[in-house]
Amino acid sequence: MRSFLSAPVSVLGIFVFSLFVANGAWADTALDKSMQQLGKAYKELANDLKQPDETKKSEYLALAATMKDQAKAAHDLEPKLAKTLPPDQRDNMTASYRKDMDKFAQDIDGLSDALNQAKWDDARKLMETLKQDMFSGHKQYRVQKHHEEPAAQTPATNAPAQ
Ligand code: HEM
Repeated sequence: MRSFLSAPVSVLGIFVFSLFVANGAWADTALDKSMQQLGKAYKELANDLKQPDETKKSEYLALAATMKDQAKAAHDLEPKLAKTLPPDQRDNMTASYRKDMDKFAQDIDGLSDALNQAKWDDARKLMETLKQDMFSGHKQYRVQKHHEEPAAQTPATNAPAQ
C-alpha cells in the first residue's frame, strides 16, 4: 500500500515544487541582488566612518560609487510588490518607487561630496538619511511578511541595523 501511494505523492510533490520555483516565489530577484550589493557597501562604509582615515578616502568614495551604481540599477527594476497590484495601481506604485529611488541616488551624491571634502560628521548624517530612505522605501515597496513584527522588516543581512 505504501509503495502504491508513494510514486503519485512524489510526482505531485515535484510538480508543486516546480510551480513554486517557476513562479519565482523562491528566487532572488535582480532587485534583491542589487539591494544585497548596496547593503554590503553601506555596511562597510558605516563601519569605516566610525573612525575615518583621510588616507582611505578613495576607498570610501568607491563604496559610495558602488551604492550609486546599485541605486541606478534598482531604479530601472520593478519591485515584486508591483506584480501583485492591478495595472493602474501598479503604474502609480512604480512611478512613485522610481521618484524615491532618484531621491535616494541624490542623497548618495551628497554623501560622495561630503566624503570628498573629508567632512566626516556630514557624511555620517547622510548615512542616517540613507537609512531613513531605506526604511521608507521598504515600508512602501517591499512585500511585507505579515507574521513579522515591524522591527523584523529590516532585511536580515547586508542592511543597516535599525
Ligand atoms: C541603505 C539603503 C538600503 C539598503 C541597505 C537596502 C537593503 C535591502 C536588502 C538587503 C533587501 C533584501 C534583499 C533580499 O531579500 O535578498 C532589500 C530589498 C528591497 N529594497 Fe532595499 N535597501 C536600501 C534602500 C532601499 C530604497 C531607498 C528602496 C526604495 C526606494 C528600497 C526598496 C527595496 C525593495 C522594493 C526590496 C524588495 C525587492 C523586490 O521586491 O524584488 N530599498 N533592500
